[in-house]
Amino acid sequence: MNRRVFLISASTGGLAAITGLSAFSLTRTPTAALAPWAEAGTDRSDPRRFVVEHAVFAPNPHNRQPWIIELTGPLTMTLWCDLDRRLPHTDPFDRQIVIGLGCFTEIASLAAGAIGYRLDVAPFPEGEPAPRLDRRPVAHLMLVRDEAVHPDPLFGQIKLRRSTKRPFDMAKPVPAPVLAQLQALSGPLAVVSTLTDPDMVARVRASTREAWDIEAKTARTHQESVDLMRIGRREIEANPDGISLGGPFLEGLSLVGQLSRAQLADPASSAYRLGADMYRTMLAATPAYCAVAAPDESRSGQFAAGRAYLRLNLASAAAGLALHPVSQALQEFPEMADVKARLEAALGVAAPNRLHMLARVGYGPAVPQTPRWAASTRIRTA
Ligand SMILES: Cc1cc2nc3c(=O)[nH]c(=O)nc-3n(C[C@H](O)[C@H](O)[C@H](O)COP(=O)(O)O)c2cc1C
Repeated sequence: MNRRVFLISASTGGLAAITGLSAFSLTRTPTAALAPWAEAGTDRSDPRRFVVEHAVFAPNPHNRQPWIIELTGPLTMTLWCDLDRRLPHTDPFDRQIVIGLGCFTEIASLAAGAIGYRLDVAPFPEGEPAPRLDRRPVAHLMLVRDEAVHPDPLFGQIKLRRSTKRPFDMAKPVPAPVLAQLQALSGPLAVVSTLTDPDMVARVRASTREAWDIEAKTARTHQESVDLMRIGRREIEANPDGISLGGPFLEGLSLVGQLSRAQLADPASSAYRLGADMYRTMLAATPAYCAVAAPDESRSGQFAAGRAYLRLNLASAAAGLALHPVSQALQEFPEMADVKARLEAALGVAAPNRLHMLARVGYGPAVPQTPRWAASTRIRTA
């Protein structure tokens, strides 16, 4: 499909603008937007900055990077949510945003351990905001020198972890012992489960596809994603967050007028259909799922689910597996209610338990790191 659109573009003559395609390709990497990955941890003089430089690599919804870290003392920090970076249409109660902040905190804890500190975490120290987040802190974090702390092997996976938004190998099932290792990441605050039964996997695949269609066909929820799309290197470097549509192929399409936010918002456009086809192909190529659930509906449960998901993502990477969250069917906007209820029933999740993450798991291709704002841009001094 990609190729077909590309050839159509070429036949219009539009690609004459892109002479020397390979030279063009070489210049399309958003180098500045990826620089934080290479630079993290080079200076170990301030443990707080070391920890935050790694924590910003956390997976998070639409890569909005909603964290603000305030340095409150030589070894203390407060984690805040940047309330302007939430996703009110697809995440009306800021649940997914909190999960991302939990992922951030778990990386912070692993990074602290790598330099001999324990990270003491107090989530929602001034109470749990509801129904949406407010100006209260998400967590107080304290670094404590601790001889008993040893680097966790998962620390080594932080820069290798990805959300692999690609089709997985349907001929290569995930071995049961590997899945058992992932389930063993469960704790009292968050339960990790895996799903391989072919009938169940087929049902969940159908739900994820139906849910994707609902989100895409609901104008306001789709527009929320479209508004966050960064097309091509210049836009990605100007805003190294959101959904990056980069690389020579997509940037080439944009240059010849085949890929714009207006087209992506329009279900009748070929750009929209291309995106939908790619997503459906990807969702279909899913041999198994992982899920993370919390025992209650609380903010602390969401936060703990994020911490567990992060460990799941790193442990999957260590096992050579690709992981990719598919959250549409878990979202709380009214049009999704039926699919959400059916999925929860199929997975046996009933109140007070809460399903927080559903992710495709399998063997997938290597994919690049995603852009990040430098940690220094997210740090405030008290
Ligand atoms: C709570 C949560 C929900 C997410 N939901 C989705 C999703 O539905 N679809 C998707 O493609 N990625 C999803 N992601 C992955 C993010 O898009 C991804 O973490 C972000 O773009 C950064 O990319 P990276 O994880 O490869 O660094 C989710 C991540 C989190 C933490």
